[in-house]
Amino acid sequence: MKLLMALPDWYGVEYKINPWMDLDNPPRKSEALKQWNNLYSILKKLYPVEVLPYGKSMPDTVFTANAGFFPTSGHIIISNFKHKERQPEEDFFYSWFYRRGYTATRIPKNYSFEGEGDLLKCDNKFYGGYGFRSDKDVYKLISDIVKIDISVLELVDPRWYHLDTALYFLDNKTAVFYPGAFSEESKKSIRDTFSTIEVITKEALNFACNSIVINDTVIMPIRCPVLKSKLESLGKTVYEVNTSEFIKAGGSCKCLALWSY
Ligand code: ARG
Repeated sequence: MKLLMALPDWYGVEYKINPWMDLDNPPRKSEALKQWNNLYSILKKLYPVEVLPYGKSMPDTVFTANAGFFPTSGHIIISNFKHKERQPEEDFFYSWFYRRGYTATRIPKNYSFEGEGDLLKCDNKFYGGYGFRSDKDVYKLISDIVKIDISVLELVDPRWYHLDTALYFLDNKTAVFYPGAFSEESKKSIRDTFSTIEVITKEALNFACNSIVINDTVIMPIRCPVLKSKLESLGKTVYEVNTSEFIKAGGSCKCLALWSY
């Protein structure tokens, strides 16, 4: 397995497709590059990382978690972006994976699906978020294509518009999540299925749930001290990363990397 990142050369906030993006508060380019390099150098000490070229004139390709989703080895389901602003990335990501010999599946245009931003794996089970970017029905389609079982979770607050902004799995039994992002039913199903670490609003707004877990190490955004100390008390090694310039586009650590194999 490896993590895929994309160079931030064309990164910017040039349109507004989530509540975080503000055309009057653009990311500082050199600071963004510094923050991206810092995340990259931490990750590459811990795990293989491959870097994609940037998507020219596609400012959000840096968020590779949205390229698609790997249900099985060598096979990626390419995203169908909800907003027209990100749709040019579909062909970019498709050709990148196809040229490297992956099986890259496209799904019908009438379905929205934003890859690992909304579809997460835990212990051979899959969890799909819907409500903002991906359709509930797309998980039925993906289940049929790749014969996996996907439980769906409903997101209800536009600030947590992708599942990976509100939930991650610390291990096979533990979910770290922000309850306020989910419908009552989905909250209950997360609590019934996992032992949970529930993130406070202030830290969820600092993207606490958008973290990367590599074995016993968690790479998480800065300004989430409550969660950080909970993780440390469980024996985890925590790296804090400043992603302020990417939060301006609505993403942090996890959005900047895609699990691939
Ligand atoms: N500006 C991007 C968008 O709104 C941010 C994507 C963040 N990615 C993620 N996996 N949550 O689509």
